[in-house]
Amino acid sequence: MRLSKFVVTAAVAVAIGAAAFTSIAQDVVITPDPALSTLTVEQMVAKRQELMKLNGATLKAAGSLTGAEAVAAADTLISNFSSYTVLFPEGSGAGTDAKPEIWQNYEAFQGLLTQGVVAATAMKAAAEAGDADAYGASMKTIGGLCGQCHQQFRA
Ligand code: HEC
Repeated sequence: MRLSKFVVTAAVAVAIGAAAFTSIAQDVVITPDPALSTLTVEQMVAKRQELMKLNGATLKAAGSLTGAEAVAAADTLISNFSSYTVLFPEGSGAGTDAKPEIWQNYEAFQGLLTQGVVAATAMKAAAEAGDADAYGASMKTIGGLCGQCHQQFRA
């Protein structure tokens, strides 16, 4: 399994002012905790399921957070999406809800994770700026990505 540390350029819609939207290119560096790569496959499965649950709790709570707590929630999502890039090694699907389609379309799967990091990074920037509209919009984007990936890749 490779340790992925890669730079991706993705277009992020950022709210400027009240209503105008513009698209900017943003570099995202995905750096999963190197310790994750030393886990056994069994431990990786347990870890990804634990972090998915944390995702659910974090996203649910994030809507009512502001300031440093909102920034921390975004950091958790960035960290989790980054961790998933190494927690779905080939052959780790048996007995779990991870569909074989993940490894048949691994680039698409990783692409959704990249989009998750991009959206959570935008969420963090909005939290730091105290921009409630942009914060809410990026949370919505993230929620859409959860659903999209589950529909395609989760049993
Ligand atoms: C790129 C794909 C992808 C994205 C994005 C994603 N998930 Fe998942 N999720 C999965 C897969 C695959 C599983 C099944 C994992 C397994 O069974 O080992 C899963 C499982 C889960 C589970 C069940 C965990 C358990 O076993 O108890 C929850 C809860 C969950 N995801 C929440 C979320 C939330 C909330 C988000 C968005 C913030 C999200 N996920 C984003 C692919 C994704």
